[in-house]
Amino acid sequence: MPKELQIPNRETELLLSELRKTLEISGDVVEFGCYEGDTSILLAGELRDSPDKWLYLYDSFEGLPAKTAEDNSADGWRFKEGELKASPDTVRHKFKKYALPDPVITKGWFNELSDSDLPSQISFALLDGDFYESIKTSLALVSPRMNAGGIIAIHDYRNAELPGSGKAVNEFLAEHPDEYALRIVASMAILEKQ
Ligand SMILES: C[S@@+](CC[C@H](N)C(=O)[O-])C[C@H]1O[C@@H](n2cnc3c(N)ncnc32)[C@H](O)[C@@H]1O
Repeated sequence: MPKELQIPNRETELLLSELRKTLEISGDVVEFGCYEGDTSILLAGELRDSPDKWLYLYDSFEGLPAKTAEDNSADGWRFKEGELKASPDTVRHKFKKYALPDPVITKGWFNELSDSDLPSQISFALLDGDFYESIKTSLALVSPRMNAGGIIAIHDYRNAELPGSGKAVNEFLAEHPDEYALRIVASMAILEKQ
């Protein structure tokens, strides 16, 4: 049986069409929560004709952190601490297999990253850390670096199994009024920097 993708194909196509809208905006592309790199290689494929854009990938490569109270839901029993553990080498091999340029891979917990781990300007960000604290931290890291017209796509915004993602986004928008326009596309929140 084929392996289950973390972002299903129908959503990936929608995600890539959001990425395409930002290709003329200056800045790099980041993915917070890359796991085995299945979505990363698709992002990289779209960047083939944008050689000035780098792809930055972040993950603990230790799997999911512990949940906090904001993540509790009757439906969320599947997601446990340590699940979704991958290796940077798995990601690197995937890029080699498809002859894609090497991404910048940083192994670490999002809340332990420092400024120098991130590009100075971002045109597109995919946040796929599943849990409240992970999404909250990644929003705080990418937001000051977003260029006007740039897009932050947050996976699981509307996923009853992962309620922390939506909570973190709604709180962020309340704290940054008028900075972003929100669209909801499938289960994703699409925030366009104004
Ligand atoms: C759903 S998977 C990502 C799937 C990937 N975007 C894809 O489409 O294939 C979530 C990933 O986020 C990582 N993650 C979640 N919270 C994290 C945190 N606070 N710091 C670092 N990594 C985190 C996990 O290790 C896991 O690999």
